[in-house]
Amino acid sequence: NPIYRIVAIPGEGIGPEVVEAAVRILQQVAKLEGFTIQVNYAWLGVTALEKFGSYFPQATIELCNGADGILFGAVTQGGLLELRKHYDFFCNLRPIRIIDSLLHKSSLRPEKVQGLDILIIRELVSGIYFGHAGRSQDETGEYGYHTMIYYDQEIRRIARQALQKAQQRRGLLTIAHKENALPHLPWTRLVQEEAREFPGVIVEPMLVDNLAMQMVINPQRFDVILAGNLFGDILSDIGGALVGSLGLLGSASLNADGFGLYEAIHGTAPDIAGQGIANPLGTLGACVLMLEQWGEMGAAQRITTAQERVLAQGYRTADLSPQGVEKLVNTETLIKLLLAEITKD
Ligand code: IPM
Ligand code: MN
Repeated sequence: NPIYRIVAIPGEGIGPEVVEAAVRILQQVAKLEGFTIQVNYAWLGVTALEKFGSYFPQATIELCNGADGILFGAVTQGGLLELRKHYDFFCNLRPIRIIDSLLHKSSLRPEKVQGLDILIIRELVSGIYFGHAGRSQDETGEYGYHTMIYYDQEIRRIARQALQKAQQRRGLLTIAHKENALPHLPWTRLVQEEAREFPGVIVEPMLVDNLAMQMVINPQRFDVILAGNLFGDILSDIGGALVGSLGLLGSASLNADGFGLYEAIHGTAPDIAGQGIANPLGTLGACVLMLEQWGEMGAAQRITTAQERVLAQGYRTADLSPQGVEKLVNTETLIKLLLAEITKD
């Protein structure tokens, strides 16, 4: 029976609450599916700074080295970008899939999002998040700068991941670019060159501002969307509005070895932290991606099915603003409902 070693990094805000929920559910599916998950806890961000004097301490690196996955909660500042960069988690997968029972929670009319199934692939370890940056001063005054740098090879490698995913899905790859203003970042040409090795995939370049608009006009037209770090960050929050809550979305960030960091798309949500009302489904969605990455399809399916059933029964955390016949539940109640569903059949 396989043994998987994961490192759980709760972080801050609602991070500890959603990670604890996810670990309990992972342990339950592991038991049912006959494998073992060993969990080590590690620190990142403010909690790491308090304990080790660094946002991304060596102790965390040592725990993560050789693990089968990193399950991450949330941090407000410091550490996360370093963690992503350290393990070269360049390929960030952000599935945006509508859940039938939440159709009316979308920011759009139900018929606009029915069957919605988009995969945003975001480059995660380069671009403006990691370019030359600083603050300085000249005769005009003080200024700050962050530069958007992409090596061609960084665009090519994320392009190949996106092309492969598109080939396995519906065959449409939309590239988010901004070449009318940023002509030295030739995403379109580079992706098209890589696409020669992926017959059957239609590559569709789209200016990112227009793409953002199309996502709220006609989101069903999209299959895979490829974006650089900053554009991918922004577009994926639109995805949250489309499916009804950012709290529902999970993501996987993989390096070339298939080692991954699994986290929700949302942040620390300081306004609701510590109240026991956070939505754990984003982190749980990330766990599903982790199980799939390991090839544990049965376990992944158990979680997905349980989640769909509990939502279909009308249970909702506060972020989904339940009304009428819907039932408001806190994190603990939702976990118990999920555990019960997972254990059936
Ligand atoms: C995300 C988050 C992070 C990002 C923040 C917390 C740095 O918004 O994962 O989408 O911008 O990458
Ligand atoms: Mn974001």
